[in-house]
Amino acid sequence: DMGGHDTYMHKEIFEQADAVDRVLRGRIDDRFSTVHLGGLNLDAREARSVRRVKILGCGTSYHAGLIGAQMIEELARIPADAEPASEFRYRNPVVDPDTLYIAVSQSGETYDVLAAVQELKRKGARVFGVVNVVGSAIARESDAGVYVHAGPEVCVVSTKCFTNTTVAFALLALHLGRIRDLSVADGKRIIEGLRKLPAQITEILDQEAEIKKIAEEYADARSMMFIGRVRGYPVAREASLKLKEVSYIHAEAYPASELKHGPLALIEPALPTVAIVPDDDLLEKNRAALEEIKARSGRILAVAHQEQEKADRTIVVPKNEDELDPILMGIPLQLLAYHTALALGRDIDKPRNLAKSVTVE
Ligand code: M6R
Repeated sequence: DMGGHDTYMHKEIFEQADAVDRVLRGRIDDRFSTVHLGGLNLDAREARSVRRVKILGCGTSYHAGLIGAQMIEELARIPADAEPASEFRYRNPVVDPDTLYIAVSQSGETYDVLAAVQELKRKGARVFGVVNVVGSAIARESDAGVYVHAGPEVCVVSTKCFTNTTVAFALLALHLGRIRDLSVADGKRIIEGLRKLPAQITEILDQEAEIKKIAEEYADARSMMFIGRVRGYPVAREASLKLKEVSYIHAEAYPASELKHGPLALIEPALPTVAIVPDDDLLEKNRAALEEIKARSGRILAVAHQEQEKADRTIVVPKNEDELDPILMGIPLQLLAYHTALALGRDIDKPRNLAKSVTVE
């Protein structure tokens, strides 16, 4: 049942305020400015002994993991990184007992992720799951975990589950942070930010008509460049994946800082750039990148917290706490991908060559 929407993708994009509400529900502890994660099974002593975090997933779940790794580093100050599960399992990884491994999956059935979990467990590692489908294979194989509570996601192109997974990571990062060195004041600040998310998502989705117009303007592009820096970079990667899988327009994502090391050669009017420009300590750096692109007559669509002078178009998103901004900045770009695909007459819920869950190698 699509509940009045023409596609599941559209329905699921518009379910995100409620979905985020669900992942937060019952988990916030105002007394200690932290969160409770029932399925974690990790006492404070164990949480303090984690020396590294390694996040594994595929596709969109991997991108959510990239955002999660940054949140864990920022809030809990534990070195963290994310890697495609498919790569990890084939490179005879060094498995370290002080590392917390986290497997991320919407379906909980992705074979590459499951195989990585099994290999890790065989080597004695502790593996957590950040999974949407309750009782799925990866949820069962993990030692503990956090459910994402996005609700059923039908469209092959993942949207609401991505957003909820990033929120689940924010909860985990806050939890680990408050057991370690994150202050009460910072804990409160993050909790207030989390509580604002559902209303801010609604504010973004209310801009659908403008985003649709922008999508129609850019739908003739053969290729698009997505750029971002630090917190914005995984957002750019995910937005680039969304666009290519549902519209079949070629897209690349680059750290804005890497442009001058090669891809700047591609910039010309026929290659539009989508730039993630959060209002944080890197704002000026990001603006400089926009100038470099403009100087080469590149068209720019910015996703930012304020109108960007150098951009041809800006989608203004509401500001949250710096650490939580990536949760919101990808949402307008889901709509951009959706309306681009619609304008091009694509099969939105079932893009060619793809399956919802990849249960083979
Ligand atoms: O079910 P999973 O999260 O494990 O799936 C992983 C990827 O196959 C999935 O995210 C894929 O990239 C989607 N088509 C993205 O929209």
